[in-house]
Parts: sequence; structure tokens; C-alpha cells
Amino acid sequence: MAETQTRTSGWQVAGSAAESYEAYLVPALFRKWATALVDAVGVSSGDRVLDVACGTGAVARSVAARVGATGAVTGIDVNPEMLAVAERASAGTSPTPVFRQADAQALPFEDGAFDVVLCQQALQFMPDAAAAVAEMRRVTRDDGRVAFSVLRSLDHHPVYARFADALAKHVGSTAGDMMGSPFALGDREVLRAFAAAAGLRDIEVRIEVVSGRFPSVEEFVWYEAASSPLAGPILALTEDSRRALVEDVEQFLEPQTDDAGVSLAYETHVVTGRR
Ligand SMILES: C[S@@+](CC[C@H](N)C(=O)[O-])C[C@H]1O[C@@H](n2cnc3c(N)ncnc32)[C@H](O)[C@@H]1O
Repeated sequence: MAETQTRTSGWQVAGSAAESYEAYLVPALFRKWATALVDAVGVSSGDRVLDVACGTGAVARSVAARVGATGAVTGIDVNPEMLAVAERASAGTSPTPVFRQADAQALPFEDGAFDVVLCQQALQFMPDAAAAVAEMRRVTRDDGRVAFSVLRSLDHHPVYARFADALAKHVGSTAGDMMGSPFALGDREVLRAFAAAAGLRDIEVRIEVVSGRFPSVEEFVWYEAASSPLAGPILALTEDSRRALVEDVEQFLEPQTDDAGVSLAYETHVVTGRR
């Protein structure tokens, strides 16, 4: 997500993909998902919390208010650009989360170092998600809590299936595949098996539905693109091709379009367990 973009011809200028992610997708979606995840796991004053694959820190900031001055929040991510934005965005948060670069599949913490370990919308991007869940359990104290959230499959998000098709048609098959990747770990029994294999107890899988809002179809396309490596290929399109992409998306988003823009429902599995 290091790519720097500029946007021309009526599309606003954006900075890095990490900055766009924080500016666009966190308010539209990830902040709402963070509240659902933290509510599901339950966090108490004084808890030490780890946010695995923290991105720009949406979960870390959401949980900080719950742990209070006697608690502590740590976030890890592999992507230094995401971590740099997380630091800036969390500067006024109390307690201020500590961010560091690390791989979720090999966490650099002692066994049992945290009371609560969370991971939001990231396991689907890891080569060995089962190893990451096992690591989350390892660094949780006895009787501590673990929770992770992963979007349900494209079958439950037909709008994104059509968006992936439109990107494949106008931008290329790699772009289409990329838009499908957040939905690639959508089977709840696979997630339950990860939690069980890691040795978690009291496992519960819930479906949470969160509504996301975008000011217009064009901004929906841009929010998704600017916050990912799709920005470069979309900006490289001719003005006519970009318009054709937006027109295609406008057609299938018509039922989701109202006077305030576009309203979409996102279905996520939230898995909770106890060490
Ligand atoms: C869609 S973002 C979600 C970020 C954050 N959890 C949130 O809710 O905003 C996925 C994140 O997973 C991170 N990631 C992917 N593979 C990782 C790994 N093996 N270890 C740590 N972070 C990883 C990416 O860098 C990215 O920040």
C-alpha cells in the first residue's frame, strides 16, 4: 500500500494508499466493524490489548477508550506505511497505542503477554491464517480472550462480485481478482476450525451486518481504488474508460443508490474464543 497517487479531472487528489484507507474506508466501514469486534469480545478497564494486522489503527483506537488509563494497547502490522498513518491518526488517543512492525504469523511477544488479542479483516490476506490464529492464542494469557473478523464470501456480497467483474473488464483480470480477495476466507467452518486447532475454548461464530455509506457511485469506485494497489491501474485508464467503468457500476448499484449516495450492507463473521 506504498503507492502514491494523484487524481485528476474531477477526482480528488489523494496521498498514499494508507492515507486514503484512513481517510475513506475507515470512516465508511472499518470504524463500524471495530465497534462490533470490540463489543463481541468484551474489553475491561486495565486490559492489555493486542491489535494484530492493525492497519491504520481503527481497532486500536476503538479499544483504547475501553481499557482506560490503566490499560495498554499495542498494534502490529507488516506494512510500514499503514503503521506510519496509525501513529499519526492515534496521536491524541489515550492511552496512546504503541505500534510496531511484525508478522502476525510469528508474533514477537512472550506467551500470555495480553488479556485480549484482536484481528480485524486481515486473516484473508495471510498465506498461513491458521498459524496467525495459533499465534494470537499463544500470546493471550490463560482465560484471556481472542477475537477475529473476516468478511463473508462474495456470494453474500453480490455487488462486489459484479464490481470485481467490472474491474476485470475495464482494468484487467488482476484488478478483478484483487477486489475478490477480501471475501476469500468466507467459510465460517474454516474459521471455526482455525480457532479450534489453535486450542481456543468457548468458540462462537457470529454474523455481524454493518452498513457502509459512500457519497456517490464515483466515490465508491474511488474509495475502493485509492485505498489499494488498484489506484495506479485505474488512474492509468483513459478518461473514457474510467467513465465507462463508473457507468457500469452505476447500473448495478442503482438499487442501493438513494438521495444521500450509496448504501451497502456488509456481512462479516466475528469469531470469539477464550484461551
Ligand atoms: C484490510 S487491512 C485491515 C487493517 C486493520 N485491521 C483495520 O481493521 O483497519 C489488512 C491489513 O493486514 C495487514 N497484513 C497482511 N498480512 C499481514 C501479516 N502477515 N502480518 C501482519 N499484518 C498483515 C496489511 O498490511 C493490512 O494493514
